[in-house]
Amino acid sequence: MFPANIYATRRKNLRAELSGGLILFLGNQEVPFNYPANTYSFRQDSNFSYFFGLDHPDLAAVIDLDEDKDYIFGNDVDIDDIIWMGVQPTIKDQANKVGVEHTGPLTDLNTMINTAREAGRPVHFVPPYRGETIIWLADLMGIHHLEIKSKTSEPLIKAIIKLRMKKDSFEVAEIEKMVNVARKMHITGMKMAKPGIVEREIAGTIEGIALSMGGPVSFPVILSINGQTLHNHHHHNTLVEGRMLVMDAGCENELHYSSDITRTVPVGGKFNSRQKGIYEVVLKANLAAINAVKPGVPFKEIHMLAAREVAKGLIDLGIMKGDPVEAAGKGAHTLFFPHGLGHPLGLDVHDLEGLGENLIGYDDEVQRSQEFGLAFLRFGRKLQEDFVMTIEPGIYFIPELIDIWKAENKLAEFINYDVVDTYKDFGGIRIEDDILVTADGCRVLGQPIPKTVSEIEDIML
Ligand code: GLY
Ligand code: MN
Repeated sequence: MFPANIYATRRKNLRAELSGGLILFLGNQEVPFNYPANTYSFRQDSNFSYFFGLDHPDLAAVIDLDEDKDYIFGNDVDIDDIIWMGVQPTIKDQANKVGVEHTGPLTDLNTMINTAREAGRPVHFVPPYRGETIIWLADLMGIHHLEIKSKTSEPLIKAIIKLRMKKDSFEVAEIEKMVNVARKMHITGMKMAKPGIVEREIAGTIEGIALSMGGPVSFPVILSINGQTLHNHHHHNTLVEGRMLVMDAGCENELHYSSDITRTVPVGGKFNSRQKGIYEVVLKANLAAINAVKPGVPFKEIHMLAAREVAKGLIDLGIMKGDPVEAAGKGAHTLFFPHGLGHPLGLDVHDLEGLGENLIGYDDEVQRSQEFGLAFLRFGRKLQEDFVMTIEPGIYFIPELIDIWKAENKLAEFINYDVVDTYKDFGGIRIEDDILVTADGCRVLGQPIPKTVSEIEDIML
């Protein structure tokens, strides 16, 4: 946990953004895996973590905007709990650690919210994403659970986005530590990527590294020789020479700051010429995008810059044709690069996404596109100093998508479908780094992770 003053300052900054009423934060509860007492590993809600730091289930917190008081509610354990879980700090002791003076049992929370509602005071809360929290919130607010979504507080959501998007040096240090864990995961994965090994052997090993170094993973490991499936969580294939292995994996620490790194390597450690050709295009797009990052530049523009690099590279390889700027402008590259360039990273691996992608990534100046490909761009607005983002272009040969486009002769002036057909057994390549936007550019976080063809071939020797 950070020192108490960090959480107190965050709450003070939040107060300054809102004008009156209560802000209600419900912490996460344990979630059963297959019966009530057998639970998944506990994961605290990220907003609760950001403002109140405590990493225990069944806590709630209130910021009273009118009385300048913060509260933490929770029930102290009894002797039965102590027998199974050991001695636990009291709610009072926990609250002290994060600079909160006022505490009470959960029944006091019910009373406080009831009283506020009866007095017509606003109760601000963010969109819940777990069934348990939706029900808890519905009970507290005295409304049907289906009404919860429409009663969330946009001023609160916008205030949290404003605060959490900019990372201070302590947060960056935590993210960077996790990038370095991801580095170890990826280098280990690269060295294991030999023909005959099964994907799950690598996936399990690198997840174990995350767990042994703080863990857990910040999202289920994506690791597959079928990298054309963007989020492939099936790890049952045996690695064979001639396939590329996409590894998209990161780690989060006990504070929940996360990393999200992708590397793609040739099974066996040597790129063949076809693999090298496509890899160099993705690498160019990754480097050009990183080079273009600076405050004030809309992320959508950087995404389109990467798209033009992809189009240009694929034209040079004979897979696409025509003018790269025109091709990317018409979306022809989306057959191969159908997703967005990246997303914010922080306490969530897709940071803040639970608050609503459009509120995080778009504004009056930059609106979300409805076009195929660009619609998947999670973040399009102007970058600001201290944002942490991922940069993750890719090229994929998705047979089902190729067949649909080819049948429609879609954008055939830019695509050599006969050549594309010969790549249907290729898979995919993605290269992802985590960057901090600085005053005049950006810094790639963490120690370098092998990325060029020669760096990858050397480490896999
Ligand atoms: N690393 C998974 C994603 O960015 O969606
Ligand atoms: Mn990512």
